[in-house]
Amino acid sequence: MQTQKMLIDKLANTKTLSKEEWITLIDGHDADSAAYLFAQARDIRHQHYGKEVFQRGLIEFTNYCKQDCFYCGIRKSNPEVVRYRLSEAEILSCCELGYELGFRTFVLQGGEDNFFTDERLSHIIAHIHQAFPDCAITLSIGERSFASYQTLFKAGAQRFLLRHETHNHAHYATLHPENLSARKRQACLWDLKKIGFEVGTGFMVGSPFQTSAHLAEDMLFLKKLNPQMIGIGPFIPHHATPFHDQCAGTLELTLFMIGLIRLMLPKVLLPSTTSLGTIATDGREKGILAGANVVMPNLSPINTRKNYQLYDNKICLDDDARDCRQCMENRMNTIGYKIVVCKGDSLNLDERNVAYV
Ligand code: 5AD
Ligand code: FES
Repeated sequence: MQTQKMLIDKLANTKTLSKEEWITLIDGHDADSAAYLFAQARDIRHQHYGKEVFQRGLIEFTNYCKQDCFYCGIRKSNPEVVRYRLSEAEILSCCELGYELGFRTFVLQGGEDNFFTDERLSHIIAHIHQAFPDCAITLSIGERSFASYQTLFKAGAQRFLLRHETHNHAHYATLHPENLSARKRQACLWDLKKIGFEVGTGFMVGSPFQTSAHLAEDMLFLKKLNPQMIGIGPFIPHHATPFHDQCAGTLELTLFMIGLIRLMLPKVLLPSTTSLGTIATDGREKGILAGANVVMPNLSPINTRKNYQLYDNKICLDDDARDCRQCMENRMNTIGYKIVVCKGDSLNLDERNVAYV
């Protein structure tokens, strides 16, 4: 515990650690060091964000995907998935309901779907922008070319979520087919930054073959990329994927990583994810108490939700947007936090294009 405390204090003071120190800290995580870490993570979170929780409305607008990631339930070779795309009108009506419920950020998330050309997406983005000028539009649609990202940015999308999944190239190759690489993934993130997007990245905790050395590399990469948002959640197996019999990531390690990220990048936007809520009923509350400050309830139409399962047992499949919004508010109130109606901008916008090398 002495070493753990020392490393946590050092992280809080210097905002970084060496790879070896990260490994020692991650390997040594236990209930005592977690309690010590979370108290500091909460303090820092309160300094910057008080007890406010930002919310983002998630719209899962297509489950078509041309990729075949080994962990993902909507991978192209899962024949069980009933594929769907929302029309522009359906997407807009999700936004309308979301606006009424107090959302000021819409996250358009989907598989890598060629149907959604730059032209089609730009049209949708421009339309949302026009109808809801006080809202931020976030895209989470995977890897595209520099020119494509640029077009979508010009159309009015300001934010982009693209998890790096794992920084280590060999580990990345064990999670993905040969056409995908860590190099290309990371290049997309640098492209997005260069264009001027507020960028979100992240990884799964406990993904197959992951070691603490991989997690240490993830921390070093996050420090260097300096993104506006970091989404992490436990890996959860999906029955119809090659990883169906792999173990899920643990609640404890996921929370510990959230606390570490809050200490390393104090102002970062840090969601308490749906996957956390899936492995434990109070997982999202615990995520907030470990240092997270964002929640992302689902705004997708109820009849499509069961077809957007990246992992098994995903929560909220039968709850409509109103239920989710209310449920989330109650959950946050129970632990003394408050969901706010605002865009929830990053506090390090001025550092958007600054990478710490
Ligand atoms: N378990 C947990 N998270 C997953 N994701 C994809 N599949 C799974 C799974 N089986 C995550 C990936 C992806 C994000 C949208 O969801 O990190 O980037
Ligand atoms: Fe969806 Fe609780 S957040 S029902």
